[in-house]
Amino acid sequence: MDFHLTEEQKMTQKMARDFAEKELKPRAAEIDATGIHPLPALKAMAELGMMGMNIPAEYGGSQAGVVSYSLAMTEISKACAATAVTMSVTNMVAEVINAFGNEEAKSAHIPKICSGEYSCGAFALTESTAGSDPASMKSSAKLKGDHYVLNGSKTFITSAEHAGVLVVWAKTDKAAAAKGISAFLVGKGHPGFIVGRHEEKMGQRGSPVNEIIMENCCLPRGSLLGQEGDGFKIAMMALDGGRIGIGSMAVGIGLAAIEYATEYAKNRIQFDQPIASFQAIQWMIADSFTELEAARLLVLRASFLKEKGQRFTREASMGKLFAAETANRVCYKALQMLGGYGYMKEYPLERYTRDCRVTTIYEGTSEIQRLVIAREILGLK
Ligand code: CAA
Repeated sequence: MDFHLTEEQKMTQKMARDFAEKELKPRAAEIDATGIHPLPALKAMAELGMMGMNIPAEYGGSQAGVVSYSLAMTEISKACAATAVTMSVTNMVAEVINAFGNEEAKSAHIPKICSGEYSCGAFALTESTAGSDPASMKSSAKLKGDHYVLNGSKTFITSAEHAGVLVVWAKTDKAAAAKGISAFLVGKGHPGFIVGRHEEKMGQRGSPVNEIIMENCCLPRGSLLGQEGDGFKIAMMALDGGRIGIGSMAVGIGLAAIEYATEYAKNRIQFDQPIASFQAIQWMIADSFTELEAARLLVLRASFLKEKGQRFTREASMGKLFAAETANRVCYKALQMLGGYGYMKEYPLERYTRDCRVTTIYEGTSEIQRLVIAREILGLK
């Protein structure tokens, strides 16, 4: 057992931290206020190797590994969670194509994701009536000659309006629940693939979320990822990895909040002394750093297992569950430490709190993570 990071991992962490401090942190409030997707920053991140961190060099990836990816995600999230979620989904999409795409799809799309030629990728699984239960999706894909014809709609799709390539799921066999789902690749602007409404969100406002409408969207047969009926497993495997990204993000937002509040507490004078000298504040600081460290270690353990090619479904769900719940508690306490100032837009605590909220919801709610963990422990699946 070795808790030390390698020199390469430390270098990646430092590179991401330096970038985040210089390029993202000063703009995060403006990104939140305007809701404008930080496209130039995404391009710069791709150039630094952050958009294909588990992708082989032959497709333009940086091959930094899963632990480095987790460390970088945490650093980016400390500065701007909206940018971080784009990074997370884009890495997930690159990995899906790398694992399940044919050679043509890999060489057509992955280098463009890694280089930043595509601003980002998107993962179109959720539907308005199929969120926690994606197996109940209604979108359909019918094979006609050499093409699949897709019809249906998707909801809450992160980055859909900017994505160069999207993975989209639809049923090739309506009668077959999970086993009837297939996954496809769709390029930006494909006829019949319409990016619809831009949702107004509580947090992570610089990360656009759209609906998608598919109207007789005709895709060549080669757009299929894996085999017909593999789609559900592809989604689940991708989400295992995605949950490492969201857990790493939650750790980053929580750290940003408590580090800010701790500095504040050292300088805020009440009753003739810094509020950090009061035990009530000290306990908030102690509990928050302790729980975030535990969350960080859980997420890094899942990252380590994935990097070693071992099963990590349970560990990724544990990491995501614990990190997301912890970070929300930490944001609550950190905002409380600032009192009335915590509630004001002039300070970043209200943004951290809003940005953090969704980490217990997307890529599987906390309730779904508990379901996955319990099934794994009880051997129910
Ligand atoms: N890896 C590989 N295969 C898996 C798997 C995994 N982690 N989990 C399940 N499977 C397989 C099962 O083994 C099973 O295969 P067999 O039939 O061959 O045995 C098949 O998939 C079906 O599994 P289940 O019967 O367990 O499926 P289920 O319908 O009961 O659902 C679930 C399981 C865990 C609840 C799943 O539906 C789930 O994870 N739901 C949450 C969905 C989610 O996370 N959505 C996020 C949307 S994307 C997003 O949020 C991105 C963003 O915005 C940032």
